[in-house]
Amino acid sequence: MENFEAWNPVHLHFGRGVTSKLPDILPQIGRKALLLIGKGSVKQNGIYNIVAGAINASGIEMIEFEGIKPNPLLSDVRKAVALGIARKVDMVIGLGGGSVIDSAKAIAVSIPGHLDPWDIFKRVVKPERALPVVSVLTLAATGTEMNQFSVIQNEETLEKIGFGHPLMYPVHSFLDPSFTITVNRDYTVYGITDLIAHSLESYFGEGEADLSDRFVFSIVAEAMEFAPHLLADLASYELRARMMWAATTALNGLTGYGRRRGDWTVHALGHSISMLFDTPHGATLSIVYPAWLKYLSSHIPNRISKLGTALFNDGSVDGTIEKITGFFQSIGSPVTLAEAGIIGNDRQKLLEHWVRVQAQGNIYRLGSVDYNFLLTHM
Ligand code: NZQ
Ligand code: ZN
Repeated sequence: MENFEAWNPVHLHFGRGVTSKLPDILPQIGRKALLLIGKGSVKQNGIYNIVAGAINASGIEMIEFEGIKPNPLLSDVRKAVALGIARKVDMVIGLGGGSVIDSAKAIAVSIPGHLDPWDIFKRVVKPERALPVVSVLTLAATGTEMNQFSVIQNEETLEKIGFGHPLMYPVHSFLDPSFTITVNRDYTVYGITDLIAHSLESYFGEGEADLSDRFVFSIVAEAMEFAPHLLADLASYELRARMMWAATTALNGLTGYGRRRGDWTVHALGHSISMLFDTPHGATLSIVYPAWLKYLSSHIPNRISKLGTALFNDGSVDGTIEKITGFFQSIGSPVTLAEAGIIGNDRQKLLEHWVRVQAQGNIYRLGSVDYNFLLTHM
């Protein structure tokens, strides 16, 4: 086991009706909130009324920024930073899925020092302060509600990158599984794919950490077992709750303790797909993972075999890869670029993008031979 620190300051509130605590909690945090929302789902499904009502009941002044899109844009983050500075907000509330909450974090860490978010993400400047972030999650997938990461895309340089900083942990996160009941089937599927990918990115990292491996197996097994039930009954509170907690635990530190680091190549390759073709994040991961496992099979067959034994009682490398791929197919997540509409010259564009941005994880250094190998398997 490697040396590690375990520290997660997020105060998580999980369960039905938890946002009713907002009027008590918000006044302890600040007086004027920037409320960030996406493209309007929360206004259609009534969640906005519940949360805005609770914010108003708290006596906090609320300034709203609407329109954060899936695969969020730097330009929107910059506009919200300018609004927050002009209106002197002292906290940021993200109400939505990962795109909204990631944007809330990027905004919160930019406002106090009047920093440009891209300079922070590109590590040109180091943030020293951040406004407190409150997250109200409406989609189970990313784990952003209990971690310090944010991922945004720069539509000028065509880069989608992540950044993590301890200042960006939400101070409070509200997870009401009933808020996720209106998530459509496709995004429910992508969320399941994403949480499995997070567990595996950690598992294929560096360092022996047996208990963390077992956490990975449990989280993936939970998701694989309950996915078909949830997809057959999208309105089930209980199944939504199970998937929501699985997604949170897949990227809140738990699966990484005792390892030096995770790998994250699949995410880096997937971010290029989202950047170029606006493919939903989870869909990019089910496309890349099967190809990535084939690549890994010549490097770390034993690791794949251990995973297969734990998940499927099948230690064969090929069998494990087939079963994971088959699971993604069974829930309707694409496993080839063509299934996501990426065909013809688009494949060449993707290859060039990987080369240009040097899409890499932490452990395996990929060159053009590897990119070509991966591309031919997706
Ligand atoms: O924009 P609105 O209208 O709100 O609709 C959204 C959006 O169209 C909709 N939605 C959200 N909650 C809903 C709902 N529709 C109905 N009912 C609800 N309750 O779902 C769509 C997708 O939303 P989005 O926030 O984009 O999805 P997700 O939560 O999967 O977030 C994806 C983003 O998170 C990043 C991804 O790269 C991507 O940009 N990630 C963030 C991570 C992190 N911070 O730790 C790690 C992940 O690996 C990931 O990279
Ligand atoms: Zn992810």
